[in-house]
Amino acid sequence: MKEKTYKLSVFRFDPLFDTKQSFKSFNVPRSEAKTVLDALLYIRDHFDGTLAFRASCNQGRCGSCAMHINGEYGLACETPLHPGKTTIRPLAQLPIIKDLMVDMERFWEKYESIKPYLVRHSGEARQSFTNRKEMDSMIDCILCGACFSACMMTGLNPEFHGPAAYVTLNRFLRDERDAIHDQRMELVTGENGVFRCHSMYNCNDACPKNVKPSENILEIKKNIG
Ligand code: SF4
Ligand code: FES
Repeated sequence: MKEKTYKLSVFRFDPLFDTKQSFKSFNVPRSEAKTVLDALLYIRDHFDGTLAFRASCNQGRCGSCAMHINGEYGLACETPLHPGKTTIRPLAQLPIIKDLMVDMERFWEKYESIKPYLVRHSGEARQSFTNRKEMDSMIDCILCGACFSACMMTGLNPEFHGPAAYVTLNRFLRDERDAIHDQRMELVTGENGVFRCHSMYNCNDACPKNVKPSENILEIKKNIG
């Protein structure tokens, strides 16, 4: 009996050699794969060793396997395969290095620009349990970049910090130990700050960890007044 397979259509493009982007079809034995990442690993190991993609933990923790799967953003390692065709594209808004691998530099640059770390006053800085608890959902961000890719504004305005950066910024704005609250507020009220966000909620839909970047952006806007 012929073995049942999952059908995958995978985006292919090597900017160094290809003149146009394309999709390549693969059939992966159902016994060999449960998730999209399993299938990509199988394809790379059995059909095409040149297929490029990122993945590391295989546990939904590192954020490196975010991609566009059947019209939605998701983590390849957490997205189950289904009997229909699965179409896989790279994250949008970021330059393609090869196939499903994108250049995340702009994402990291914007993230770094909001000072994603605690700046403490001198001496001991204690955080209350209640204050720490307020940050639970923000700390769940795994920096996968899906929200950045789904955001219309990051595409239109290269200076816009992007949803993930604002989640972390809001985390430190809320942190009672932080010593540069005013400096952080200046960052977000600028020309390319939070008010560039039109609240389209694409970031919320894209987030595989239910971090809700839109709500964080709205909260920052409200606090500005
Ligand atoms: S907010 Fe969600 S989608 Fe955006 S980087 Fe964090 S985990 Fe990924
Ligand atoms: S491989 Fe780490 S989140 Fe998917």
